[in-house]
Amino acid sequence: MKKTKTIVLISGKGSNLLNIINNVNSGFINMEILMVISNNFKANGLDIAKNHDIPTLTIENNDEFEKKLSGVIDDNAIDLVVLAGFMKILPENITKKYDGMILNIHPSLLPKHKGLNTHRKVIEGRDKFHGASVHYVTSKLDDGPVIIQARYEVDNYDEDLIKKKIHDIEHQIFPIAIKWFVDGNIYKYKNKFTFNNEVLECPIEHILNH
Ligand code: GRF
Repeated sequence: MKKTKTIVLISGKGSNLLNIINNVNSGFINMEILMVISNNFKANGLDIAKNHDIPTLTIENNDEFEKKLSGVIDDNAIDLVVLAGFMKILPENITKKYDGMILNIHPSLLPKHKGLNTHRKVIEGRDKFHGASVHYVTSKLDDGPVIIQARYEVDNYDEDLIKKKIHDIEHQIFPIAIKWFVDGNIYKYKNKFTFNNEVLECPIEHILNH
């Protein structure tokens, strides 16, 4: 079966990138990562890509970003763009042109806590539940249809522990959403999405295995 041609965009540590690579290498996700792109040349994720023989590209200049990114997507006939800890807002021309083919992981139970510092917001609000979401990217920040979410009951408001827990959740749900995309189970449909041709009104809830 034809492999989905994918690029992964990162800005930092790259633990989600590594987890996705591992899921591709294990055969769980039938895709090929053609390139890892960063907006930050110091991103540790670039080393992870190099260690796995995946070509990398750093685009730090804002003025060049849109042209270079769409050049990579078009020249390589990319099917899927994965934002794995990518901390820059994509230009509207990109989100519109590639509507339905960009997935993002966000460290909160969207629509709660869009934007940055989600753990801090959970701590300050003493939220009872926290979690992570995978969603289609649209031109509005963290606003596209949410595909999958997982939640846990917060029993400790230490920020480092929360961060670790959320990473663990992200590593469970992101590969599932990517697999659904790659296998053709999900499609973006207006401001919703379909799962096996059925329009879903709310995200799929993933029950954590620990
Ligand atoms: C993740 O928590 C992601 O949700 C957020 O940034 C973090 C990136 O982590 N947008 P990593 O670089 O994948 O380790």
